[in-house]
Amino acid sequence: MSTRQNHFWNKNGEEYCESVPLSKLAQEFGTPCYVYSEAALSENGHALKAAFSSYPTLPCYAVKANTNGVLLRSIFAMGFGADVVSVGELERALRAGAKPDQIVFSGVGKQKHEIERALTVGIFSFNVESGSELELLKEIASTHKIEIPFMLRVNPNIDVKTNPYIATGLYTTKFGIAEDEAMELARRLVDDEHLKLIGLSCHIGSQILEVRPFQEAAARMATLAGECAALGHPIQAIDLGGGLGIQYAEQSPPSMEDYAKALLGAVRKTELRLIIEPGRCVVGSAGVLLSKVVATKRTPKKNFVVLDAAMNDLIRPSLYEAHHTIGPVHHFEGMETLVDFVGPICETGDLLGLDRKVLWPERGDLFVIRDTGAYGYSMSSQYNSRPRAPEILVSGATYKVIRPRETLESLWKNEVDTAHT
Ligand code: LLP
Repeated sequence: MSTRQNHFWNKNGEEYCESVPLSKLAQEFGTPCYVYSEAALSENGHALKAAFSSYPTLPCYAVKANTNGVLLRSIFAMGFGADVVSVGELERALRAGAKPDQIVFSGVGKQKHEIERALTVGIFSFNVESGSELELLKEIASTHKIEIPFMLRVNPNIDVKTNPYIATGLYTTKFGIAEDEAMELARRLVDDEHLKLIGLSCHIGSQILEVRPFQEAAARMATLAGECAALGHPIQAIDLGGGLGIQYAEQSPPSMEDYAKALLGAVRKTELRLIIEPGRCVVGSAGVLLSKVVATKRTPKKNFVVLDAAMNDLIRPSLYEAHHTIGPVHHFEGMETLVDFVGPICETGDLLGLDRKVLWPERGDLFVIRDTGAYGYSMSSQYNSRPRAPEILVSGATYKVIRPRETLESLWKNEVDTAHT
């Protein structure tokens, strides 16, 4: 287990982010609101870099995990490149200071305009996921008479124990190219005048809690990279994707050191540059969602605590049955009750935490939903016409709004309303 400090902590019965009481932020900015710790982000980023410091490694932060420009800027300033999956993420990464030659472009459905923009800025690699995508790259390359650097994203058919919606390394998923087919494509592309195969990539899933599948994927990619190099391709890199899990509740994820050991065990002897695409392990534990109780109710079967945060703010529990620890901002002694934390949205699936033990709260009591820095805000929506929550960044005893709460107007301002035009 990691010995890193927890920057969300309890001081005299009250929850803090670094040196700022969460209740102070709730009072000033209202709830729900996302709160991030600059120190936690920086510790995670530096710990990951340190774990791989014995080998030439470029961590390309998976922008999808949290796209806030201020956080992106900090992450790129620590020396991370970017893993993007859309032209939107590409532009965000560039705006926040990512170096184009440290950007990899993943995704099963890249479109022509996205590829062209990425070529204009000069990214490091397109991680190609199908023969059909290769054809598109070829068309673009011959139209513009240019060379395009790419990696083949391989689907190694490795089963990982995680939610099926975020397991990506099996043939039953849409991702990557089976090893045989990848080698077939590689053979066909030897001496291609436009397409330059510079590496092999894979990403087997997310929230992975054991090292074995990483070891296996690394070994397979190292072998394939050797075979492609033997065919005469200018192989420079192996990209092993993201996926390192974090501790949401009782899980014990591998430490960053063990994760690095697992990957480097197979990659070191290739002497190729290692690329990884971490998202969750960089930002996940650096954020919480702060919320307050709007109602409590008991049915003959259940006790419900209705928070002002909902599935539009944090969809992970509804979508993946993901567990986020939820606790009071002010701690008191007393008898605990088993409750379901839910949001105000009109769906039974609008839940934040089931069967949790807490002191029966009152309206207005504050709760903190932990480890929501990754795939929290970035997956939020305005469902039920709920403006998105603000994002606050804490650094020591100071804090700033890094994205204000959306206004009611933001709900309709881009619509064409004939009555008002
Ligand atoms: N690289 C690729 C190609 C990916 O598809 C992903 C995540 C990553 C890197 C980063 O993986 P990470 O290190 O964060 O595990 N919304 C889900 C997670 C979806 C992950 C999608 N791909 C969740 O909330 O758990």
